[in-house]
Amino acid sequence: MNDIVRIGVVGAGSISVRGIMPHLEQDDVHDRVQMTAVCDPVPGRAEAAAERFNIPRAFESYEDLLDSKSVDAVTIASPIGLHYEQGKMAIDAGVHVHFNKSMTTTVEEADDLIKSAQQHGLKLVASPGEMLRPLNRRIRELILEGALGKLAWAVTGAAFGRYHEQESVRWGEDILSNINPAWYFRRPGGGPLYDMTVYGLHALTGVLGPVQRVTAFSGVRIKEREFRGEMLPCDMDDNTLLTLDFGQSLFGFVYGTAAGGLPDIGRFAIFGLNGSIRLGKLNGQPIDYPESQLEAEIGGNASLPHVVDAHYQIQEAHVYEDIMQLVDWIRLGKPTLASAEHARHVIEIFDAGYRSAETGIAQDLRTTFETIQ
Ligand SMILES: NC(=O)c1ccc[n+]([C@@H]2O[C@H](COP(=O)([O-])OP(=O)(O)OC[C@H]3O[C@@H](n4cnc5c(N)ncnc54)[C@H](O)[C@@H]3O)[C@@H](O)[C@H]2O)c1
Repeated sequence: MNDIVRIGVVGAGSISVRGIMPHLEQDDVHDRVQMTAVCDPVPGRAEAAAERFNIPRAFESYEDLLDSKSVDAVTIASPIGLHYEQGKMAIDAGVHVHFNKSMTTTVEEADDLIKSAQQHGLKLVASPGEMLRPLNRRIRELILEGALGKLAWAVTGAAFGRYHEQESVRWGEDILSNINPAWYFRRPGGGPLYDMTVYGLHALTGVLGPVQRVTAFSGVRIKEREFRGEMLPCDMDDNTLLTLDFGQSLFGFVYGTAAGGLPDIGRFAIFGLNGSIRLGKLNGQPIDYPESQLEAEIGGNASLPHVVDAHYQIQEAHVYEDIMQLVDWIRLGKPTLASAEHARHVIEIFDAGYRSAETGIAQDLRTTFETIQ
């Protein structure tokens, strides 16, 4: 067993400042993981983060962070379009990787990372670890037990709205609270699918299993967004509707839109001949599982295994949970449900959706992942 995992934080933007670093700064994790380096290309940002969160090394360049040999693992919290290249560089440097969602933008990139990590004996954990949630695991059990009868269809999705323009860390004056969200609207890696729809689709595929075919319409609805008086050009699709074929005429509808979500579904809804799952309830009734009381009292993230005590109050605890999954895997050899294979399948659905929208042709999928039995 390795004693303490030395982790580097790649990108000191919103998720790092609000979630990752405040969690990893807590004393209770320091017997297992310690932040030893941070990097960000915006001059002064990594240094400011290092000072605020007691991180010994700060770099403007990711290459310098890797060259410093001060990390066993990295959490990649940069814009999504950079994740593949940065993941590959980490693997080449012999470093384990946690990917903030999404791990890559194409299925080929995901294939390459998984293969390279295996060749180097390294571990990849990919957010969002939605099947770590006891509720989602219980829903899968209920469906396998036949609680909904024969399934007919399911739905999930998310909308951008103005979420990223309005995050608190983008409206201050200092270097850690004045973070420009322009990349969320640009190619590659922008758009609501890789950033937002990814949660519900991880949960839905985790519950129902892999998808076989995808069709989609997709395009750019809002061509320019205003942020702090600056006009941000938007060339990445922000309005995408997909249909999924799970096989045997079980279908799914998935959206990642510029605005407007479906009410009353929660992260996903599933409909069968004998009932439905909606808002995390079975036919309108709460679902019982060992952690349900704790969640009702403290909040949804409280049932995640590493989210305890001080971590209840800190934002984005699910991201911290995924990082701790990697830490446990490195230290204790304990693999995780937040797997790169599951992330690759979800990425293939998005990637295939964009290809279908471009060509007008339904796309067959080729990847799969291990579902919970
Ligand atoms: N913002 C959220 O609510 C949220 C929540 C959970 C997960 N995430 C995920 O976290 C990741 C980052 O999102 P964010 O909202 O923090 O973005 P952000 O734009 O707020 O921050 C990204 C940071 O990465 C830095 N960066 C740019 N190029 C870099 C490079 N080459 N090397 C290292 N750093 C670089 C930027 O300077 C910036 O400080 C994304 O994958 C996103 O989907 C975001």
